[in-house]
Amino acid sequence: MNTTSTDTIIFSPGRINLIGEHIDYNGGYVLPAAIDLKIKFRFRKKQGYICVVTSESKGSLKFDINKKLITTEGHWGNYVLGVISGILKLRPGKLEGFECTFKSELPIGSGISSSAALECGIAKGLNELFNLGLSDYEIIEIAKIAEHKFVGTKCGVMDQFAVVMGIKRKLILLNCETLEYDFIDADFSPYKICLLNTNISHNLSTSAYNKRREECELSLKTISKDYPEFKNLANIPLSIIEKYKNKLTPDIYKRAIYVSMENTRTKKAAEMIQNGQLKHFGELMYQSHEGLSNKYEVSCDELDFLVDFTKDLDHVIGSRMMGGGFGGCTINIIHKHSVKNFIDSISKDYEKIFKIKLTSIIVSTSDGVSIES
Ligand code: GLA
Repeated sequence: MNTTSTDTIIFSPGRINLIGEHIDYNGGYVLPAAIDLKIKFRFRKKQGYICVVTSESKGSLKFDINKKLITTEGHWGNYVLGVISGILKLRPGKLEGFECTFKSELPIGSGISSSAALECGIAKGLNELFNLGLSDYEIIEIAKIAEHKFVGTKCGVMDQFAVVMGIKRKLILLNCETLEYDFIDADFSPYKICLLNTNISHNLSTSAYNKRREECELSLKTISKDYPEFKNLANIPLSIIEKYKNKLTPDIYKRAIYVSMENTRTKKAAEMIQNGQLKHFGELMYQSHEGLSNKYEVSCDELDFLVDFTKDLDHVIGSRMMGGGFGGCTINIIHKHSVKNFIDSISKDYEKIFKIKLTSIIVSTSDGVSIES
């Protein structure tokens, strides 16, 4: 599609999360940021009610706004249809035919939220094109529910929140119970944020993700019978959870311990970053990974290998898996002078052991979804 003056151009970024993994749907604190890798969309109105959305690499999706929206198992278009469905509910009769093309810089399945970038970009573009008057919070909610209902992942709010609300050079300390948030400076100098993509995405990720969520809900249900003041698992102190060692199954007990500890770590991490105590923050990243691997059990050999590799290296101050898990990326904080050598050596060893190429991405924080001015 060639650009004309009537086109609406949208940029929608991916996100990183410094710490606070699997905490959003448990109502605790997370520390994400939008990043400088994005999806670029062009939107244009089209006569009638037929809509065509085209991914430059994955083909087209065509549907009629007035007919039942039909999903196809595993298809990227489900994210789009979910957003359309959400908008039709909130703003009935406001959508008409449109064309949209998009091109993505975000590797799919790598844990940097290409899906939230797609959902939020579509919602923001249609909001602008049809003057829907949706607030940022409505866009975040539409995008999240699209994922629940049209994709089947019962995700939390972190990804969509970061994609919409991100600000350049800032991290978002988000309380997922209240949706209150603070921006804190993302000043890691002289270190860089480097993502290492395992380039694997285990297909159990959606079912295992939903299972973890159910396990957490179960432990909350048991504990809140005695402590009704807790509405979310992340806010239950460790000392209370420990009383339930024999009342929860071993797996569910481990999940609850992880969630409480990770929430505490995230609050501490935000303080440490603000105070410039980056090495201490790095230690919390390793603790987070250890919990995700052994207690929450969402890591895999490839991610564990990448984190272990960094442990004795002075120029890496922290490393952990990022996102839902079972593949995707690790996030690493590396001294700027050592980035190249580090990537060369870890890539060689990774490829030797797993016979897969490792990809590295140096990222910076950026603004959230935006309209080209
Ligand atoms: C995925 C989900 C998020 C969050 C992370 C884990 O990215 O979409 O809501 O739960 O996993 O922290």
